[in-house]
Amino acid sequence: MNEEIEGNANPTPTKIILRPRGGVFITGNFIIIDEEGKEMPKKEAVSICRCGASNTMPLCDGTHKGLSF
Ligand code: FES
Repeated sequence: MNEEIEGNANPTPTKIILRPRGGVFITGNFIIIDEEGKEMPKKEAVSICRCGASNTMPLCDGTHKGLSF
């Protein structure tokens, strides 16, 4: 586990929001580990694709808007 998350006495709560017919929006104190086990660059918020059509996987790039997903 990342020390930045574990050692923070007053962490920002992590929110995971399932957007209607869109990505999974994550804000707060979190890390993302990619499929190769590498930690992705830290951001304050990300949207993870759940439609499978993004050109920037695993991140949502808005492609879902043109789909009947
Ligand atoms: S959910 Fe947005 S591109 Fe897939």
